Amino acid sequence: MRIAIYPGTFDPVTNGHLDILHRAATLFDQVIVGVAVETNKKTLFSLEERKHFLESSIKEPNVKVEIFPGLLMHFALSKGACAIIRGLRAVSDFEYEFQLSMMNKQLNEKVETIFLMTASEYSFISSTMIKEISSLGGSIAGLVPPMVEEALKRKFRS
Ligand code: COA
Repeated sequence: MRIAIYPGTFDPVTNGHLDILHRAATLFDQVIVGVAVETNKKTLFSLEERKHFLESSIKEPNVKVEIFPGLLMHFALSKGACAIIRGLRAVSDFEYEFQLSMMNKQLNEKVETIFLMTASEYSFISSTMIKEISSLGGSIAGLVPPMVEEALKRKFRS
């Protein structure tokens, strides 16, 4: 059983994340989406909301979602994972992702980081931009699941 972890903050999940996830699900027996408690980002949505958006948007039967506290590598080991999945959108992502993967390698050299290229139609998306556009009344249709679009509208209307 080859298990991979797809970690992130997912505040909120975008169609770009779902595209990576879809492709990862064809490569591994099981993919666990890990919603990190320890992230240096100030989030708009709660952990439970982010988990719920992911669970409601995922169609692949071999994917599940879990919230994890502490270190990503400890979580990966506790799940018996052999790989960490990360999406790369552009060259600008590389430096941060390189550092993250090297640090994780330092913590456990047996778990590989696998990079998947984000599909070109999603390569410009980021959760931060999605939130900014929505907060200013712009349309984010087609960039996030409909449930996320509605949740963002509600958040910024209230
Ligand atoms: N399509 C669209 N957007 C994408 C994308 C894709 N395929 N892949 C990434 N992004 C965007 C996200 O929207 C997000 O945008 P934002 O910065 O505006 O929010 C950004 O790229 C990356 O976010 P995300 O994919 O959610 O991951 P992250 O970088 O926030 O995740 C963790 C970081 C959770 C992996 C890291 O903090 C972690 O491992 N934490 C646990 C504690 C730990 O182990 N620390 C030591 C690490 S060495």
